Amino acid sequence: MASGTQPRSALLECIRGAVLFALASIAFAHPVLAQRKVELLVDPSKAGDRIDRNLFGQFAEHLGHGVYEGIWVGPDSRIANTRGVRTDVVTALKALRVPNVRWPGGCFADEYHWRKGVGPDRAVTLNPNWGGVTEPNTFGTHEFMDFLDQIGAEAYLSVNVGSGTPQEAAEWLEYLTASQATTLAKERAANGHPAPYKIAYLGIGNESWDCGGNMTPDYYLSQLKIYTRFVRNYNPAQSGDQQMLRIAVGPGGDEPRFVEWAETVMKGWQDRKWSWDMQGLSMHNYTVVHWDKKLSSVGFAEPEYAQILKSTLEMEPLISKYSAIMDKYDPDKKIALAVDEWGTWYAPLPGSNPGFLVQQNSMRDAIVAALNLNIFARHAARVRMANIAQMINVLQAMIMTDGEKMVLTPSYYVYKLYLPFQDATFVPVTFNAGAYTNGEITLPALDAIAARDKSGKLHLEVTNVDPNQPVEVTLNGVTARSATAETLTAPKVDSVNTFDAPHLVMPKPLPVKVERGKLILKLEPKSVSVISVEQ
Ligand code: AHR
Repeated sequence: MASGTQPRSALLECIRGAVLFALASIAFAHPVLAQRKVELLVDPSKAGDRIDRNLFGQFAEHLGHGVYEGIWVGPDSRIANTRGVRTDVVTALKALRVPNVRWPGGCFADEYHWRKGVGPDRAVTLNPNWGGVTEPNTFGTHEFMDFLDQIGAEAYLSVNVGSGTPQEAAEWLEYLTASQATTLAKERAANGHPAPYKIAYLGIGNESWDCGGNMTPDYYLSQLKIYTRFVRNYNPAQSGDQQMLRIAVGPGGDEPRFVEWAETVMKGWQDRKWSWDMQGLSMHNYTVVHWDKKLSSVGFAEPEYAQILKSTLEMEPLISKYSAIMDKYDPDKKIALAVDEWGTWYAPLPGSNPGFLVQQNSMRDAIVAALNLNIFARHAARVRMANIAQMINVLQAMIMTDGEKMVLTPSYYVYKLYLPFQDATFVPVTFNAGAYTNGEITLPALDAIAARDKSGKLHLEVTNVDPNQPVEVTLNGVTARSATAETLTAPKVDSVNTFDAPHLVMPKPLPVKVERGKLILKLEPKSVSVISVEQ
């Protein structure tokens, strides 16, 4: 027996050695198989600022099929609608609890004349900014307010400072909000709405340093004083804490001219007289790698994934920079920073009208959305409004439509996952993000925020930026009884939902282990996950 076992155990040793060698070579050749472990530490005793629900605002401009076909199909359309507004879109947006919609632009706002969009006879005008197409004005003031009513959102109107007058804007607000029997209020009633409308937010121009009139900072400041003085809200229900918040044009990047702009407007506000005021300063920032050679929204690979994420993270230093300027003139943070245009801007889809800014929305956009929402949440004391550009069929859209077909994008599902964060209280969370490297680009591999909702429940969002490696996350700092989680991921970084395959990128339940009060989850590569904890 003894003589027979010797060669067998040598053989077994040999096989074992070969297997170990093979496993080691696989691990060496495919380091992606190794699973990272990260500990998140939340500190619920240190409640932070409120994550304003307005951070989840939307932007709908008269641009391409953003309004016409995206929202408005008209009452006679064969597409199901309520008073001309498409029913499928309303149902989808209601589910997002959209807090506010910015309208009618964008660059369009500074060429918009509201009178052409009220009453039975609508003028057909032009939309020179966006493809030079005709503008039927069939979606005007009443249709917009009806749309908001259907989805349950507040109005954020941008008034025309570029080519309009203070009188035109003042009359629009009187038409919308006067409760007394003025001629304009009677006209509003005759057009179907006797009660004054609520206008929660008013933007005084748009990008007035560029498409809004190429103004100098000083010229804009004098316009701002005039518009905020004379464009009044007369709705008796909008006094005190319901007052309409007026938002001035702010910077659009980190160039010196934008710094000068922000300094001028904020200093002007600090030196203000009793006769004018504002409550917000806007900021625009798009995720674009090269403006003159935009990346494609489809069919891209990992290098373009990494480039876009690197570019999107520039939101953080930009907000810090303008917050610091605002702090100088407004240490009490009375003025909100409203990032009222942000999102990815890619090359137009082949075959589309380049003026319509049509692009696809992939898993990469979902990661972009999560990273930006987390940046806003971390700056919640100053950033109290943000509007993704744009809501439907334009740029980083929530929804895409084609005739009667509609598809919800990966970005839509991020907004859906983030619902518990609306008006929740920020809770600090610390972790070692690790690093994800592609070529010359190295990014934090992980991002996370935490917040408590009004009922006291703790919610966490964790983004695994790394497109190759899963990560095991353990939550410390709270004793959990149970937890539920959902995750959004996709087979590839460029996976998209299409009209033919609309469910490729959508949230699914994520298993959570609770071990002695600790939560343990495994996050898939390139994923956005929201975890709700019962304590
Ligand atoms: O969102 C598209 C355009 O981008 C807006 O009209 C303008 O404000 C910005 O330059």
